[in-house]
Amino acid sequence: MPSQFDEVLDRRTDSNSIKWHLFDEDILPMWVADMDFAAPPPILGALHGAIGHGVLGYEAPSKELRENVAKRMQKLYAWDIKADDVVPVPGLVTGFNIAARITCQPREGILIQPPVYFPFMKVQKNTDTVMQVAELKKVTHGHTLHHEIDWEVFENAVHSEDAKTSMFLFCNPHNPTGTIYTDEELARIAEICEREDILICSDEIHSELLLDGNKHTPIAAISPEAAQRTVTLIAASKTFNVAGLFVGFAVIQNESIRRKFKAEIEKLTLHTNSLGHVASEVAFAGECDDWLEELLVYLTENRDFLVNYVKENLPGVRVSNPDSTFLAFLDFSELVEQGKIEGPLHTFFMEKGKVAFNEGASFGPGGEGFLRLNFGCPRETLVEGLERIKAALE
Ligand SMILES: Cc1ncc(COP(=O)(O)O)c(C=O)c1O
Repeated sequence: MPSQFDEVLDRRTDSNSIKWHLFDEDILPMWVADMDFAAPPPILGALHGAIGHGVLGYEAPSKELRENVAKRMQKLYAWDIKADDVVPVPGLVTGFNIAARITCQPREGILIQPPVYFPFMKVQKNTDTVMQVAELKKVTHGHTLHHEIDWEVFENAVHSEDAKTSMFLFCNPHNPTGTIYTDEELARIAEICEREDILICSDEIHSELLLDGNKHTPIAAISPEAAQRTVTLIAASKTFNVAGLFVGFAVIQNESIRRKFKAEIEKLTLHTNSLGHVASEVAFAGECDDWLEELLVYLTENRDFLVNYVKENLPGVRVSNPDSTFLAFLDFSELVEQGKIEGPLHTFFMEKGKVAFNEGASFGPGGEGFLRLNFGCPRETLVEGLERIKAALE
């Protein structure tokens, strides 16, 4: 049965989409993390209503919006937070940079788990802190692979590089591997952070994009201790494809951390976008949940199609089998070792296949030999992208 997500939308015309305009017109973009789907009708309706008002002056996020965020956390995870714990931020990258600014002194450490979303590796430079690396372990199963925590590596990275670890910048679900961490893993991380007095900044932007009906748990919901040392970052942006509206939320149950976080926002005079409030109100009120249900079925089918395509058509290539989100991590390292691909992978596929991905090495240690592919697109576009990979390799 055809799906609403099968429709191919023109994002080059009448749009300044970064994804579709960075490269020449003959390049198919499968890189930056937004989806090629229209936002859900309830969000579009509310945005039309807001524009229809005619006056687009300064607006503050309403109390009702923060209450809706709190109610959704209760509904999805039985996570008991208050509207006052919810602090609007202009984006999640801004959110984790603020968390680092209020937590870390110069030369202290920020722990990350690469390969990971590349702005995680800029925070240290922004804050004059030290990068501490707990690289994830690649585990292969035939043509698929996944990444898991190596606990010895994790423990050794804490306070490494001669620096006290002040913050663990966590990505759950994880970009680019698509891994959702289990409650046992979350509890173990929380225990280590409690023992070593480390603030957890948990970027959970992908937490509602759960494939196969998977479950997500916010690390702050694991224990009262974890709740007191965690800044959780969430947004409607990835789930409902409204990333350009720049509104997210930091959930901070610890009053002292929240006060410092808000003071830093004041100091930097950061504001959230009025139309982003409108979209977030609708999303967190649950008005787009039917749309989301359909989206998750579509993304799961895209993921399965992709994994099967790699198996059937791309010998020597391995692919992650993501539990969440619309990003796959493709491992070409065997072909690189055999000399079948030379130079940066991204350049190889741009030149030989006319298709653009994110270079795996940009996600830090462990990303070498990989590409990140965005399958948040109509099936027809996904097929086209995969055929371009195949043609490039042939
Ligand atoms: C893990 C993660 N965090 C943050 C962002 C971007 O967040 P924002 O646009 O709200 O700054 C992305 C975008 O891909 C992401 O994958």
